[in-house]
Amino acid sequence: MLSQIKDIANTLAPRLIEIRRHLHAHPELSAQEYQTAAYVAGVLSSCGVQVQEAIGKTGVVGELAGKGTARRMLAIRTDMDALPIQELTNLEFASRIPGVMHACGHDIHTTLGLGTAMVLSQLAESLPGKIRFLFQPAEEIAQGASWMIQDGAMEGVEAIFGVHVFPSIPARSVGIRYGALTAAADDLEILIQGESGHGARPHEAIDGIWIAAQVITTLQQAISRTQNPLHPIVLTIGKIDGGRAHNIIADRVRMVGTVRSLHPDSHQNLPQWIENLVANICNTYGAKYEVNYSRGVPSVQNDPTLTHILEQASREAWGGDRVEIIPEPSLGSEDFSMYLQYAPGCMFRLGVGHSDKPNYPLHHPRFEIDEAAIATGVVTLAYAAYKYWQQ
Ligand code: NI
Repeated sequence: MLSQIKDIANTLAPRLIEIRRHLHAHPELSAQEYQTAAYVAGVLSSCGVQVQEAIGKTGVVGELAGKGTARRMLAIRTDMDALPIQELTNLEFASRIPGVMHACGHDIHTTLGLGTAMVLSQLAESLPGKIRFLFQPAEEIAQGASWMIQDGAMEGVEAIFGVHVFPSIPARSVGIRYGALTAAADDLEILIQGESGHGARPHEAIDGIWIAAQVITTLQQAISRTQNPLHPIVLTIGKIDGGRAHNIIADRVRMVGTVRSLHPDSHQNLPQWIENLVANICNTYGAKYEVNYSRGVPSVQNDPTLTHILEQASREAWGGDRVEIIPEPSLGSEDFSMYLQYAPGCMFRLGVGHSDKPNYPLHHPRFEIDEAAIATGVVTLAYAAYKYWQQ
C-alpha cells in the first residue's frame, strides 16, 4: 500500500504544486474564504469525493467511502485562511491580494487535504473505511473549528488527524510529538477602579496605577511560587491604560493580556486563581475591580495511539532520520484542540524548511517553503489514514 500511495503522490506532485500556487496567489482572510472554498469543492468533486459546502460558514466537508467494512470514520482536518500581511517574497505566484498573505502555510494545508483526498480516491477499492476531509475556515481567529463542529462536522468521527507546517524542520521530514503540542490561549481583562486625587496627597486617593503595578507584579511572582512549575503558564499583560496627567492620581486602570497554559488543570483553574489574587490586592487597598476572563481554545493534547500510528507511518515512509520526535511543546495555540473535545486525534508538524537559504518564521512577510514538502505531507497523511484502519 505504501508504494502505491507514493507512486500516486509522485504522479500528482506537479498538479499539487499548481494547486498550492493558485491558493497562495489568491489568499482570503478568516471567515471570507469564499473563493477558496469553491475551489476546494471543485477539486474534491472532480475526484469523486462527496462534497458539502457552507459547513462552518465558509468551510467545506468532503467524504470518501472505501469499499471495506470498517465502520470507524477517520477525519483529516486542514485550514484555509490567510493573514492580514503584505507579502514580500517576490515569488512569481506571490499574493495578488494587497495586504493579505498565506504566511502561516494554510495554502499548503489545504493542498495536503486535497492531495490526500486525490490519492485515497484512487485507492477507494482497497480503503477499509470512511474518511471525512474537513477544510475549516477562520483558524487564525480561533473560531473556525467551533463553527465546523456546530454544523455537525464531528458527528460520527472516531479519530482525527491534523497537520501544521513548520519552517525550522527541513522539508521531506516530519515532526511528531506525544502529549501536549500547543497551549491553551485565553484572553484576560482586568479593570481597577480607585479614586482620583491630587498627586501630592495620595492618602486622600486610591491610586489605581500603583494597585495595577501590584497586581502585575504579584501575578508574575505568584505563578512561580504557587503554580506547579512542571505545568508551564505564561501570563502577559500586553496593554495598560489609565491616568490623565502627571499630577493627578489615576482612578481607573484597564489592562488586557493573554494567558497560555499547557496542562488542562491549569486551564481549568486559572480564571478563579487570577480573580482571587486581584480581589485580595484590591480589597487590601480599597479599590474596586472586575476580572473578565475569556477562555479561548484549549491545549492540543495528542492521543498516544494515534500519535503512534502517525509516527509508525512516517518511519516506514521516510526512515528514522527524517522523523523528528519534537522535544518541546509550543505556547502558541491551535483550534485543532476543539475537535479533540469530540474525538481523540493527533496533529503533526510537516517540515517545510529550505536547506540552501534562510527560513523565515510563520507569520513573516517573507515566509516561504520548500514545495518538496507537499508530497511528503500527502503520503504521510494518506498512509497514516490507511494504517488507522489496520489497528
Ligand atoms: Ni497556522
